[in-house]
Amino acid sequence: MTSFTRIADEGSPSIIVHPDHKIAKINDNIYGGFTEHMGRCIYGGIYDPGNPLSDENGFRKDVIDAMKDLNVPVVRYPGGNFVATYHWLDGVGPRENRPKRPELAWLGLEPNTFGTDEFMKWCEIVGTEPYLCLNFGTGTLDEALGWLEYCNSTQDTYYANLRRKNGREEPYNVKYWALGNECWGPWQVAQLTKEDYAKKAYQWAKALKLLDPSIVLILCGETGYSSWDYYVLKECVTWSVHGLGGDRTKSLIDMHSIHVYTADKEHLANATAPRGAERAIQMASALIDLARIENGVPETVPRQTICFDEWNVWDPIRAPGELGAEEKYTLSDALAVSVFLNGFIRQAKDLGMANIAQSINVISPLMTNKDGIVKQTIWWPLLLFSKYMRGHSVAVNVRAPEYTGRTNPAWIRATIETPYLDVSASISDDGHMSLAVANLNEEKAFDVKVEGVKKGEVKVYTVDGENVDVANTADEQKVGIKESSWDGVGKFRFGKHSFTLLRWKA
Ligand code: AHR
Repeated sequence: MTSFTRIADEGSPSIIVHPDHKIAKINDNIYGGFTEHMGRCIYGGIYDPGNPLSDENGFRKDVIDAMKDLNVPVVRYPGGNFVATYHWLDGVGPRENRPKRPELAWLGLEPNTFGTDEFMKWCEIVGTEPYLCLNFGTGTLDEALGWLEYCNSTQDTYYANLRRKNGREEPYNVKYWALGNECWGPWQVAQLTKEDYAKKAYQWAKALKLLDPSIVLILCGETGYSSWDYYVLKECVTWSVHGLGGDRTKSLIDMHSIHVYTADKEHLANATAPRGAERAIQMASALIDLARIENGVPETVPRQTICFDEWNVWDPIRAPGELGAEEKYTLSDALAVSVFLNGFIRQAKDLGMANIAQSINVISPLMTNKDGIVKQTIWWPLLLFSKYMRGHSVAVNVRAPEYTGRTNPAWIRATIETPYLDVSASISDDGHMSLAVANLNEEKAFDVKVEGVKKGEVKVYTVDGENVDVANTADEQKVGIKESSWDGVGKFRFGKHSFTLLRWKA
């Protein structure tokens, strides 16, 4: 258990870590990425033919290197909202035959010069697994089955042969497939009611699993705490729901997708907003249990996990999607991202995957220009988490003052605490403890008694800056990682508006 006890503002905070109390395995896939045909994510982001920084495939080498540094295990593609009018066949085969199409999610033009085979090749170079999202807008089940066959089949069938004809003999073995994206959203091409979506998702899921039973299917949820989430889970959680037969001992859907973006103009409302995302995981997880209980799903059917396949700080008014959503992230946003990630570690038991939206240029930690790459403030905590917060999550008890002002959304205040010290801990498979601490207070450093830390050499990684509004640009990197060490004796000072990762051999 991770617990928080509020103390007076002038009290002495403490953190107790229990290295021998593992809570749950942290799924590596929580460090997933997302590349959508949107703004400069694909074109000018990962794919930039003609640029001297690109390889013979037109892939930006600096982007590939950054993805490798981040050790991104899985990348979602091709949308997002984009997918609602995407026909995958437009993006395969000789480039000169590929049609240009109007693009209705972001009101652009899709040249289709980058498609399935290019994405798969890019994933292989990066060393990451592909995760494909199906077109639930203008797409058909036939098309979806064709895409699955193209990617995964070894048989002598039409789409498998088309893949061979396009130069790829071996199947791509794409494991993760999403049953649409944000189908509930009024901005969606062919928005669906929850009833219509559930019917369609159930039928598509059945057919897709008949073609390839090894795939992991991801249901389109909403925020994790809506009636849509409850309804679609209840209708689709297992084969047997509609009494249509199927094998009750197998799951029909394996994961439930949720999306949460946060943002606020004021630092503390901004930095504590991701506490709502953590609450969303808890609520979605309860809905999964409820759907299983109501449907009498046998315990032998593995429990569905949550696929948090879009998360980040994003204010769509400040950085509109139609203009490429190029957010400029501040130190406050980096602290918000730390709180998101701490929440993922604390809720590791329920989280099967999470994908930062997005990987390049669009609401992203990484921004390309023609001469290189800028690592925004949010890159740095993300990098530290991905490097060190793997293995198992570990129990922590935190005593600290709490921020008691306005939250965004307001319901956070009533449902989950908002400590100034936001903490999570993990132990890696080789026995390294990592303690992640975000001090959200913009005025006050905290001297904290850290119990459970081993005296000796504790490595210290700090992300901070002059004030919460600082940002990185191509000319100046104001926020990065500072490395130092601590002997583990006495109190540790967590500086104001900072993120710190302490690491020691347990
Ligand atoms: O990530 C940007 C957009 O946000 C995605 O296309 C969509 O799914 C969400 O609304």
